[in-house]
Amino acid sequence: MSKMEVKTSLLDNMIGVGDMVLLEPLSEDSFIGNLKNRFDHNEIYTYIGSVVISMNPYKPLPIYTAEKVEEYRNRNFYELSPHIYALADEAYRSLRDQDKDQCILITGESGSGKTEASKFVMSYVAAVCGKGQEVNKVKEQLLQSNPVLEAFGNAKTVRNDNSSRFGKYMDIEFDFKGDPLGGVISNYLLEKSRVVKQPRGERNFHIFYQLLSGASEDTLKKLKLDRDFSKYNYLSLDSATVNGLDDAASFRTVRNAMQIVGFMEDEVQSVLELVAAVLKLGNIEFKPESRVNGFDESRVKDKNDLKEMCELLGLEQSVLERAFSFRTVEAKMEKVSTTLNVAQAYYARDALAKNLYSRLFSWLVNRINESIKAQTKVRKKVMGVLDIYGFEIFEDNSFEQFIINYCNEKLQQIFIELTLREEQEEYVREGIEWTNIEYFNNAIICDLIENNQNGILAMLDEECLRPGTVTDETFLDKLNTVCAEHQHFESRQSKNSKFLTDHSLPHNCFRIQHYAGKVLYRVEGFVDKNNDLLYRDLSQAMYKANHSLIKLLFPEGNPSKVNLKRPPTAGFQFKASVGTLMKNLLTKNPNYIRCIKPNDKKAAHIFTDSLVCHQVRYLGLMENVRVRRAGYAFRQAYEPCLERYKMLCKQTWPHWRGQARDGVEVLLTDLQVPVEEFAYGRSKIFIRNPRTLFFLEEKRRQCLEDLATLIQKIFRGWKSRRQFLLLKKSQVVVAAWYRRYAQQKKYQKIRCSALVVQSFIRGWKARKILRELKYKKRCEEAVTTISAYWHGTQVRREYRKFFRANAGKKIYDFTIQRIMQKYFLGLKKTTLSMSPIDKSWPAKPYGFLEGTHQELRRIFHLWRCKKYRSKFTKEMKATYEEKLAASELFKDKKALYPSSVGQPFKGDYVELSKNPKYQKLNSLVEDKVLLADVVSKINRANGKGAPRMFLLTKNNFVLADQKTGQVKTSVPLPDLSSVSVSTQNDGFFALRVKEGATSAAKGDFLLSSDRLIEIITKLHRIGSASADRNQIKIDISDEFLVQFKQDKVCVKFIQGAPKNGNGVICKRKNNRLLEVSVPSP
Ligand SMILES: Nc1ncnc2c1ncn2[C@@H]1O[C@H](COP(=O)(O)OP(=O)(O)OP(=O)(O)O)[C@@H](O)[C@H]1O
Ligand SMILES: [Mg+2]
Repeated sequence: MSKMEVKTSLLDNMIGVGDMVLLEPLSEDSFIGNLKNRFDHNEIYTYIGSVVISMNPYKPLPIYTAEKVEEYRNRNFYELSPHIYALADEAYRSLRDQDKDQCILITGESGSGKTEASKFVMSYVAAVCGKGQEVNKVKEQLLQSNPVLEAFGNAKTVRNDNSSRFGKYMDIEFDFKGDPLGGVISNYLLEKSRVVKQPRGERNFHIFYQLLSGASEDTLKKLKLDRDFSKYNYLSLDSATVNGLDDAASFRTVRNAMQIVGFMEDEVQSVLELVAAVLKLGNIEFKPESRVNGFDESRVKDKNDLKEMCELLGLEQSVLERAFSFRTVEAKMEKVSTTLNVAQAYYARDALAKNLYSRLFSWLVNRINESIKAQTKVRKKVMGVLDIYGFEIFEDNSFEQFIINYCNEKLQQIFIELTLREEQEEYVREGIEWTNIEYFNNAIICDLIENNQNGILAMLDEECLRPGTVTDETFLDKLNTVCAEHQHFESRQSKNSKFLTDHSLPHNCFRIQHYAGKVLYRVEGFVDKNNDLLYRDLSQAMYKANHSLIKLLFPEGNPSKVNLKRPPTAGFQFKASVGTLMKNLLTKNPNYIRCIKPNDKKAAHIFTDSLVCHQVRYLGLMENVRVRRAGYAFRQAYEPCLERYKMLCKQTWPHWRGQARDGVEVLLTDLQVPVEEFAYGRSKIFIRNPRTLFFLEEKRRQCLEDLATLIQKIFRGWKSRRQFLLLKKSQVVVAAWYRRYAQQKKYQKIRCSALVVQSFIRGWKARKILRELKYKKRCEEAVTTISAYWHGTQVRREYRKFFRANAGKKIYDFTIQRIMQKYFLGLKKTTLSMSPIDKSWPAKPYGFLEGTHQELRRIFHLWRCKKYRSKFTKEMKATYEEKLAASELFKDKKALYPSSVGQPFKGDYVELSKNPKYQKLNSLVEDKVLLADVVSKINRANGKGAPRMFLLTKNNFVLADQKTGQVKTSVPLPDLSSVSVSTQNDGFFALRVKEGATSAAKGDFLLSSDRLIEIITKLHRIGSASADRNQIKIDISDEFLVQFKQDKVCVKFIQGAPKNGNGVICKRKNNRLLEVSVPSP
């Protein structure tokens, strides 16, 4: 077993108990309760040890799938929940691996699912055994034999729509590897009475209906048949069609199966002809015909069916006809022919039909055997599957039930024998002391039936063979005498007085206490059925048929092999074949499937307790459990036992290192299981009571819950870790990929950039080269051009003189030179004024000489001025300087100024030194007199001027009397603050004394002089010449204030009338205003 495989057990998830051996307490009620419980949960299989109880679910269950086959394949029997596959697997493996021939015994009452079970077993074995073309063919043939046999041997009964009306035992043969080689089928006691008569609600064998429904028109015509069931006496009509059965489809299946099994086309045809013949035979009717001897003789009523039947079988009509009217009895070399009455004729007809059909059936079985028989002669392993009718207890039980129940009695016997034997063997094998087991042995009943001296069957044979009148009653009488003492035989007429008054026992019946219950048999028909007579005339007639199959079926009709011995009776034959079967089974390892049907209605979900109880009883299942439990209820090999319970003890969990047996011992001791509860075998532990097992199971269940939590915990941890590792791994992968991607991107970018740079560099280089090349080209071109031009120039120079075009320039230059010469010479001749103020200048001679002309004028003027200036004396220079200063002070500021320009600044206008009047005055003045003149001093009172002598020296000015020369006022110049003059053409000026100065007492001086410009200019120049003194400030304004002693007077100049000789008039307007009217120019 691989490590990962989960070890399970039958004990897992049990519904009720999976093994009846574990039932606690064991009683019939609990047994049935358990079956019901499981049945309700669709658990149709339950074990009794190794026996499988199978309940018919009457519905398809999903437990026969290929997956299920796989599940059960190679698993131990108790490992999984009970299943027919477990049994099949066990049997197959034990056959293959241990070389033990197997038999699978399937028993149960009609409709309990035996045939289905046998098919499941076969299909399971087919699924798990070897494969290969040849093997598959064999398998297919074995499996396909079923539909053929079912068509001919099964019929609808009140109990089962597909009831097997024969017993079947099939040996499947395998080679040493376990591959199927072939098979042998044995059939037992076909219920041939069904061919001619069916109980109410039942049908004849399926094949009749299948043929009529499914055959083509053509086939039917060939077989001289009509599709209508009602045309045939042998077919019961009330249940000709069965729900859920499609006869037509089944017919096709059967034909197909026959083909697979290996039937030739003509064989199939022959078989169908025989089937048709049986139907025809049933339609032959008889009428009485009186004979001379007074006896009635039967005659065929309507010969048409007879004719058609004879045609079908290649029979001579008259021969058959005769056989229905006469019977030849041969005794001691004598032939006596007697006529048959109508009843006898019918009996003969039905006997023929039954024989025909049952022989056909046997032939089919043989024919199938021929096909499926193993081809090789090597040693074979055999698995037998027995699908035989179960124990039958009807209201009316006849010879058939007797035979069937006998067979079941035998099976029960070998069952008990084998089970006990097996049990005993196991105990011995395991070294456990054998305790004697009490059980009921049914050998005694078998003996009652089959004993050669006084057994019931022997009695019957004796009766049948006895000369004289033999009836069923004489047979019963015989039984009553012979078997009266037997404990299991009961009859009203027997010598055993206790039944004399038993009214439940009719007179024509006897009762046998079978192992499974008492069964009452009616003796009617026993002798007849046992005899199974077919008149020789009929078999001989059949033999004469021109039909190979018919001939084959009636070998006793061969006149050359006349056998006067009676054929063996049915009972004898059956006993013999059962004997062989039992012997055969005894050599094999048995496996039991006990089928139980849950209800009589063929319905799912219904569980009829009484019905099941009945079956449980007659199948001897309780017996079965008891036998199994007699010693120890449960046993298990040490290994799986330890494996299952090791978690219950610390020493064994999780691993037991030593022997499994020691482990189990430690375990059980640890759990304090009482010693009498178990025994140690060689390889198995034996547990006496199911209770102990359940104790272990319960403990295990509790323990498993804890373990499950632990496993969950570990698993979750493991899962999370795995998840984490996976994530981590993924992250690494993602990162790697991303890095790769990023690097790729980067690389591509770099590559792109490199390409761009490269292309730029290449471009740049190319352009550089191009430039150079262009430059070189241009240079070359330039060189070419220059040299061309140079050459041109050279050539032109050389040839210029030869061109008139050059004359123009020369003439032009010459003309210009000439004009210039003329111009300059003309200027030389012109006499120009040397006066600097002369503005005259010759007009320009030529427009283009304008610049030169003006420049020459400027130069000439500068030169003329220079010449003029060079003639100046020192005095003249001083005078001009004064004039210049005057200009700077008054030009454009005082209207008087222009008239002063032409006057020379003489300074001393009174000739001070020469005039004796002023001798004294002259001496009074220390400094050199700069200016001496007569001015008028304006009187403030009336504005009239008084003449005064005005002297100006370097340091002061003096006012003196004009006549006397007496100094009136001498004011040092620094005491002067400013001089005010008007803008008009007048000579008024005010000398203003600084406030606070020594001379300030007399106030300012308002004077008037024609030489105002000269006086003020000189006064101003004294200030600028001396460094220590501020320049005197000169105010030029038409209105100014003059401080006369105390009061301030405003002097205002107004524009008077035009000059008309009156000159300037000064008038006193008021105390504060002196108005000076100046004539307008
Ligand atoms: N395991 C099963 N699952 C489903 N249906 C089943 C099963 N076993 C039996 N049946 C049903 O029960 C019917 C009767 O079964 P089967 O023919 O096997 O009975 P039998 O025991 O062979 O009866 P007989 O003794 O009359 O031949 C089947 O036709 C089928 O419908
Ligand atoms: Mg069956």
